Amino acid sequence: MKKRAQFATRLGVIATTVGSAVGLGNIWRFPFEAGAHGGGAFLLIDLFFIFVVGVPVVCAEFIIGRHTGSNVRGAFRALTPNKAWGAIGYLGLFASVMILSFYSVVAGWTMEYVYQSLSGFGGVSSVEGLHGRFDSFATSDWRPLGWTIAFLFINYVILSRGVEKGIEKMSNVMMPLLFVILIVFCVNSITMPAAGKGLRFLFSPDFSEISPKVVLSAMGQAFFSLSLGLGCLITYSSYFKRDTPLLRTAGVMASLDTLVAVLAGVIIFPAVFTFGMEPAAGPKLVFEILPSIFSRMPLSMMWSTLFFLLLFLASLSSTISMSEICIAYLTDEHGMSRRKATIINIATAMILGGLCALSFGSLGDFTICGMTLFNLFDYVSSNILLPVGGMAISIFVGWVLDKSIVRRELTPTNCSAISRLMVASVIFCLRYVAPVCIALVFIYGLL
Ligand code: TRP
Repeated sequence: MKKRAQFATRLGVIATTVGSAVGLGNIWRFPFEAGAHGGGAFLLIDLFFIFVVGVPVVCAEFIIGRHTGSNVRGAFRALTPNKAWGAIGYLGLFASVMILSFYSVVAGWTMEYVYQSLSGFGGVSSVEGLHGRFDSFATSDWRPLGWTIAFLFINYVILSRGVEKGIEKMSNVMMPLLFVILIVFCVNSITMPAAGKGLRFLFSPDFSEISPKVVLSAMGQAFFSLSLGLGCLITYSSYFKRDTPLLRTAGVMASLDTLVAVLAGVIIFPAVFTFGMEPAAGPKLVFEILPSIFSRMPLSMMWSTLFFLLLFLASLSSTISMSEICIAYLTDEHGMSRRKATIINIATAMILGGLCALSFGSLGDFTICGMTLFNLFDYVSSNILLPVGGMAISIFVGWVLDKSIVRRELTPTNCSAISRLMVASVIFCLRYVAPVCIALVFIYGLL
């Protein structure tokens, strides 16, 4: 049997898992979801789901992935004779293509914005002018469609080269750079006239804003942002080495992921209030606000180009992790060549992503349950499929999987009393807290 590819270094493990987690989910999705659902209250519930429910489920995915060294489908087959659990694998495959499709549309927007930054946004610098530019672009059909296809094509080129070479090297350089530039923008935003109002919106929770819908959205956001629930992390951890500490990796990943989302909020909300925008503007929020922020900075063209370029790269490291789920499955289970598997995955996403891209223009009137195709894909995958996948994974590892495997995988080599306590808490969360929380949020949120 061919030896499975592995990440080369410890830094590589962190950089790639963080590379998967950090992306549009933090910088685009978090601000607009928080903006639409009450700011501080949303952040507070998001934090709860990330650290109390998310981190244990991340560990659960890591345990399954590293123990079996296998793709989503193969992993469950190796662990249990009961075929029903294999459905989690199929759910993951289905949801990953769905997310890849609408995600690529937004990644395409970032490419358009790199291009627009280089051309100085056509000389427009007024807040109104910059806001209008997004609408005229997104509704123009051909341009968004073209960028979506172009973005997926770049994914294809990187993915067909294999795991170590492509993904790991890029993440090692890109992630630290992204942090630095986010800090610069935070400092810039904090000095804006309405900074206080923006920061209060983000950090002081107004409990009257909390409703079952807000809780469901915050749970969806936590899962989306951690790349959780559809076996993406099972697939990645199958490339981990034996001595990679799972709990620590999960903790570092969740902390850095949360930090980026909070930084994005600190950048966006002071500007939202300074420019008199509505925080609940939806998916276009970030794309309308950012150019206005940059246009007020010295060297605006440089900052704007650099930022959208990094956002594009961050999206790329996330979509690569989504595609890897399908590619690992098709190559391992169906003996396909990596190239052929990549073509199937990317071509499907091009068709579905193309339809999502048009849902801001020509297909804008085509709605299902009152949502355009783009919104529907986002809602169904983030708020339903990811939590269902996460719940199934936590029940599987908490109740079905052999306890000795769970302990062996989680316990680091030189185990202190604290790590023993942590391991016990993670197992407790997987057995009781995560399944019960997710089930309750569903019952209330979807009714
Ligand atoms: N977490 C990524 C982001 O925040 C998106 C992502 C990558 C993802 N892989 C995933 C979401 C798997 C759900 C499942 O941008």
